[in-house]
Amino acid sequence: MAEEHGEEMHEEEHAEDSHGSAHIEDIAFSFEGPFGTYDQAQLQRGLKVYAEVCRACHGLRYVPIRTLAEPGGLGYSEDEVRAWAADNFEVFDAELDDFRAALPRDNFPAVSGEGMGPDLSLMAKARAGFHGPAGTGLAQLFKGMGGAEYIAAFLTGFTGEEQEVAGQYLYENTAFDGGWVSMPPQLEDGLIEYDDGTEATADQMARDVAAFLMWTAEPKMMARKQAGFVGVIILVVLASLLYLTNKKLWAPHKYGKDMDL
Ligand code: HEC
Repeated sequence: MAEEHGEEMHEEEHAEDSHGSAHIEDIAFSFEGPFGTYDQAQLQRGLKVYAEVCRACHGLRYVPIRTLAEPGGLGYSEDEVRAWAADNFEVFDAELDDFRAALPRDNFPAVSGEGMGPDLSLMAKARAGFHGPAGTGLAQLFKGMGGAEYIAAFLTGFTGEEQEVAGQYLYENTAFDGGWVSMPPQLEDGLIEYDDGTEATADQMARDVAAFLMWTAEPKMMARKQAGFVGVIILVVLASLLYLTNKKLWAPHKYGKDMDL
């Protein structure tokens, strides 16, 4: 409860500061725009960054592990996901009354405790909107909601300055409202090694994990865009039929012909 309240306060600060100091650059993510799609290789790299760096302090408790095999996302096979889950996570099974290797049907574990960060499942949406470079409105349709940009900017926004306030270390961050955050800087060039040969610069890792967190927040984005597009086509067809019907119905009454009746 206290945690939730904290989040709310945060939101307000963000909204108020939307024209303030925080500096966030637009990034042309593949999933933006009306026809954007997730870049499968990027999502796979992002998962690796999450699993090797962020998960130490952040859970993804709303994300079922099996969704890693869903189409339009990371594109792993079910066997790959099963092996990955078993390698990476242990979960407590109430039925066994013991820990066991994670299965695809489990969610990513939650993480809580001293010094741990908020759950990241929905963070890309929680930080979207006002905080994005594109603002709100139509621009969002083409440039995205800004949540992924915010996360990338946040991860690379550390200045290296730190201070201790009432026994807690705070780190200066140009993307974070208020400028000081309790999360220590995480990414530095070469921190991890990507399987696809991409060079793991801090910038690259920030973008990849930001894209991955956009996917965790909205795994069905592609399907939604497609449905929206089909909806628009149906509306256009209906509108033209209506127009033609209307024209036909009124044709006899036009140009004074109705006077002849
Ligand atoms: C050592 C623990 C630790 C690690 C590792 C860590 N974080 Fe954090 N993170 C935190 C804490 C603590 C906060 C809460 C900061 C605050 O509100 O002052 C936080 C906050 C955040 C936020 C929210 C910022 C906001 O606007 O409120 C995001 C996004 C985030 N972390 C992403 C990541 C990502 C992505 C990674 C992996 C690259 C990562 N973190 C790794 C501890 C960590």
